Amino acid sequence: MQEQLLEKAKKVLEKNWQDGFTIPCEGLYPFQWNWDSGFIALGWAHIDMEKAKSELRYLLSGQWSNGFLPHIIFHNEAETYFPGPEVHNSSLSPFASRLKTSGITQPPVLGFVLEEVYEISEQSELPFVEELYDRVFMNHSYFYENRDPHNEGLVYICHNWEAGTDNTPVWDEIWKDLDSPEYQLERRDTKHVDASNRPSNREYQHYIHLIELFKEWKYDDALIAQKCPFLIQDPLFNAMLIRSNESLIRLGTLLHKEDAVRQLEAWNKKAKKSFQTKLYDPALKAYIYFNLRAGKPMKFVSSSSFASLFAGIPSKKEATEIANKYFRNGSFSGKNSAYLLCASFNPESTNFDPKRYWRGPVWINLNWIIYHGFKRYDLEDLADQIKADTLFLLEKYGFYEYFDPRRAVHQQLDAGYGGNNFSWSAALYIDLLKNANV
Ligand code: GLC
Repeated sequence: MQEQLLEKAKKVLEKNWQDGFTIPCEGLYPFQWNWDSGFIALGWAHIDMEKAKSELRYLLSGQWSNGFLPHIIFHNEAETYFPGPEVHNSSLSPFASRLKTSGITQPPVLGFVLEEVYEISEQSELPFVEELYDRVFMNHSYFYENRDPHNEGLVYICHNWEAGTDNTPVWDEIWKDLDSPEYQLERRDTKHVDASNRPSNREYQHYIHLIELFKEWKYDDALIAQKCPFLIQDPLFNAMLIRSNESLIRLGTLLHKEDAVRQLEAWNKKAKKSFQTKLYDPALKAYIYFNLRAGKPMKFVSSSSFASLFAGIPSKKEATEIANKYFRNGSFSGKNSAYLLCASFNPESTNFDPKRYWRGPVWINLNWIIYHGFKRYDLEDLADQIKADTLFLLEKYGFYEYFDPRRAVHQQLDAGYGGNNFSWSAALYIDLLKNANV
């Protein structure tokens, strides 16, 4: 069974491969996406190291001269996606790449991806790490120089698509106060998959409104920091940056890059401290979000909250409390195990929706991150559970984009949600099976 599915996973990657990089999903996402490529490279590294390397090189070929790494690189033409390159029009920025790209980013996974690829290669790919290292470092520099206005070590995101968790209920309170124009949008996503599983039209109008503002400001970071109505310190995004810093420290040590290592250590010291003091809510026993524009915390618990484990933020005691409160006894799984791990939003919340995109469904990349987080804290029971749930979903339905977290419905369901033959679901299946002990 697993052997057959491994073959299928490989076929998904091969089918989505485009002469140098891999699209996330045919039709639905027909270009190169930033954090998708990071996860996809992990899958490739097990089966075809040259493709893994090419994936990362292609991604970095879209990097801007100030270190910024866009969330989409439009290497190719495709009519099946909105908003395309003309809507983003990133050439308005003086730093823009000569390639067509978006002007917003995604969670910075490249640091730890590079280290994993190096490990998967049995440490033979150090020259490749060296080839990419400075550019990934420069990307981290970009964040600390431009997106940390109070010098806290925590960086902000300025668009919901930057979070990776596009329509999480966390953003609802921001949209409520935002008077975005009622654009007539030509949605293409809803032509490929069920509209009831996707963000609403009104949400899309807000997403586009933010991009229109960025273009008005020519993607100037200082103006964005000053004026953008969406300015959030997100726990997933910052956890990815911190975890990637850690990897760059280890890899930089191997490469004798003393200055870079010193800088990364200084960033991480400050970042970890602020993450703990600013984003940890002791009453909730969880890491939450901070609305930098409004100057107040956003007290929501989502799968992004648990990415902190992967970055080694909580103490052993706090990690155990999180495990007990949310997983062993609580809302995300609980004693009666009503939910498969890990719902993308707190199942006890009134805003939880088990079918709609990031408002409840299980996503495989977050499961991968949380699995490694549980491992890091020796929470072996939970690591086993999240791995088993992930394999159950992929083995029952195949490589869908997201899945229903309600255990009971799986007796009747016959498919996952969103796009099928989704690249990171396939790539991370390969990694979870082949790389279980990393
Ligand atoms: C969706 C997801 C995002 C992902 C992209 C491409 O927008 O929310 O995280 O990167 O699709 O797969």
